[in-house]
Amino acid sequence: MPFEITRVGTPADLAAALAVRTRVFVEEQHVPVEEEIDHHDAEPWTRSDVLHVIGRLDGTVIATARLLLETHDGGYPHIGRVAVLAEHRGHGYGRALMRALQDEARALGFLGVTLAAQTHAVPFYEGLGYVARGPVYLDAGIEHRDMDMLL
Ligand code: COA
Repeated sequence: MPFEITRVGTPADLAAALAVRTRVFVEEQHVPVEEEIDHHDAEPWTRSDVLHVIGRLDGTVIATARLLLETHDGGYPHIGRVAVLAEHRGHGYGRALMRALQDEARALGFLGVTLAAQTHAVPFYEGLGYVARGPVYLDAGIEHRDMDMLL
């Protein structure tokens, strides 16, 4: 079975997405759970301001990401919480997730997307066409840099 990306549309999908994020961000990267899970994660299937996706491999959810559609000053929507389970990295699944969210943003009429990259992941995003902007800063104790891409 190939890698399959779908929107988070049920409580079970959301639980699977949050389980991936808990393994990656809370357990692996030591982000406090109260910072990792936020109001954008509440029943996303009922809302139009956020879009979560999950990636399944052989039926098991191994990856997730989300797109925040609430923009300010005509800005770009924000991709975040991009996570692939450690044992499944390096097979193109992260890139596939990013492209799925970029396609969603493009279909909604946005001209670009933005994100806050952990500095170790800057080359991953550069490979997709993102360009870094501004200085490095700390968020949840982790170095980040803002990046943008035109769609
Ligand atoms: N540094 C440099 N290049 C990287 C990279 C990294 N950390 N991670 C991936 N790449 C490159 C790959 O080599 C590949 O390039 P290639 O096509 O030339 O071989 C390309 O980016 C796509 O990689 P892919 O296999 O799709 O990435 P992935 O499935 O391993 O997912 C992350 C990448 C960042 C999502 C994954 O490493 C992850 O979940 N990390 C922990 C969570 C995290 O830090 N998320 C980002 C928060 S900003």
